[in-house]
Amino acid sequence: MLAQFEGPEELIAAARAIREKGYRKVEAFSPFPVHGIDKALAARSPVLPWVVLAAGLTGCTVALLMQWYMNATEGDYAFAGYQFGISGKPFWSLPANIPVAFELTILFAAFTSFLGMIAFNGLPRFSNPLFHHKRFAKATNDGFFLLIESEDPNFSEQAVTTAFESIGGKHVERLLDVPDQPIPRPFFTIAAIVAVVALLPLAYVAFARGGHSETPRLSIWCDMDYQPKAKAQTASDLFADGRSMRLPVAGTVARGGLRLDPRLHLGLEHDDGNDAGTGEAASAAPGAAPSDEDEAESPQKPWITEFPKEIEISQRTMTRGQQRFNIHCAVCHGRAGDGDGLVAQRAFQLQELGQAPAWKPPTSLHAETIRAQPVGQIYNTVTFGKLAPGGQRIGMAGYQEHISLEDRWAIVLYVKALQRTRDAQIDHLTEQEKAALQ
Ligand code: HEC
Repeated sequence: MLAQFEGPEELIAAARAIREKGYRKVEAFSPFPVHGIDKALAARSPVLPWVVLAAGLTGCTVALLMQWYMNATEGDYAFAGYQFGISGKPFWSLPANIPVAFELTILFAAFTSFLGMIAFNGLPRFSNPLFHHKRFAKATNDGFFLLIESEDPNFSEQAVTTAFESIGGKHVERLLDVPDQPIPRPFFTIAAIVAVVALLPLAYVAFARGGHSETPRLSIWCDMDYQPKAKAQTASDLFADGRSMRLPVAGTVARGGLRLDPRLHLGLEHDDGNDAGTGEAASAAPGAAPSDEDEAESPQKPWITEFPKEIEISQRTMTRGQQRFNIHCAVCHGRAGDGDGLVAQRAFQLQELGQAPAWKPPTSLHAETIRAQPVGQIYNTVTFGKLAPGGQRIGMAGYQEHISLEDRWAIVLYVKALQRTRDAQIDHLTEQEKAALQ
């Protein structure tokens, strides 16, 4: 039952009166928000704000967890974070994580309030009994209406009419619930066409990923694809010498590049003066690293025989070393360290064809001489390489620019383990292990 009232004050008074008469399923309609109508109707405070709050908190939590997982985890496989340094902050740092957390909070909350509003209002509906009521159109202009639903426990047409009239309601009318009108047919046709068209770009992307093309790729948004930059090994007109690759500036040390600890950085007890590998600039110069010649003159370099204290001797380091060895070293030395990696095999082939005259085969890491080498010496080889007399790089190149300090030591640890596999002796076991063996 619907009744019209004079203005906002009348509407509020009527709403209050009708509730006092015991009606509960009451709705009010007005062209503009009427202050105090919620109270007069004793409307329940809506749930949506709480749902939105919960969604916002969820968004914030998801963002923080996500960033922790992606950047700060330090485990194996699924739990190995990217560990990007952001503005020199720790991998897990709230200040760095706030922007993303803020945005996900807003995103979750905004979507929830938009979709929640629609859902809580029972939308979308194609029809409503009120739409069939001519006078009701005034609710968007100058009409103020009260509605009592037939679900109200006190509802009876007669009683409601009298009640409305006693409080100044005009044009009291009965509205019949009309079934939802069927959705117009063209709607489905249009929806189907839109859905198919929306899939076309995706289909094209899938097609392009799987297929081959002779023409340059389609770049819709070039972004930073094309920008002036110096490419390795190409000429550059930016520098006077015309090279785009630069040597470290002489006499300077890059941040984090100071290498003052002879144990950690050279594998030596003390810097014997022959090794100039104490700074970026110095170590980058060819011939600075120890060479065969040096060794021939002074075979007893003060190599360290124990790992530096900064290097953690653990299963973790060992696994890391194995992984790095298989990436960087196995190509030449072979996975088992016998010097028969794929590169070596290919070089032997070429040599037989007489096409690789200057090839020096990778040393077997199980050779007596290498087994006898202290950890410091192996580390030094990995770092500076093995140079032929005179500093020519025909032996093995140094890996200090490719492999981080920790990883180089991890590789040494793994090489030692590899060597142990050929040289296992009963004395290497603890008493417990010996007992278990028997
Ligand atoms: C491109 C091929 C190649 C790669 C990759 C390579 N090496 Fe070598 N390695 C060589 C060659 C060749 C020699 C022999 C050099 C010589 O005696 O002049 C050698 C020698 C060695 C030696 C013996 C040095 C000595 O004192 O005689 C060790 C130890 C060694 N490599 C360890 C490694 C480790 C560890 C890695 C991984 C970080 C590695 N190598 C990667 C080719 C390679």
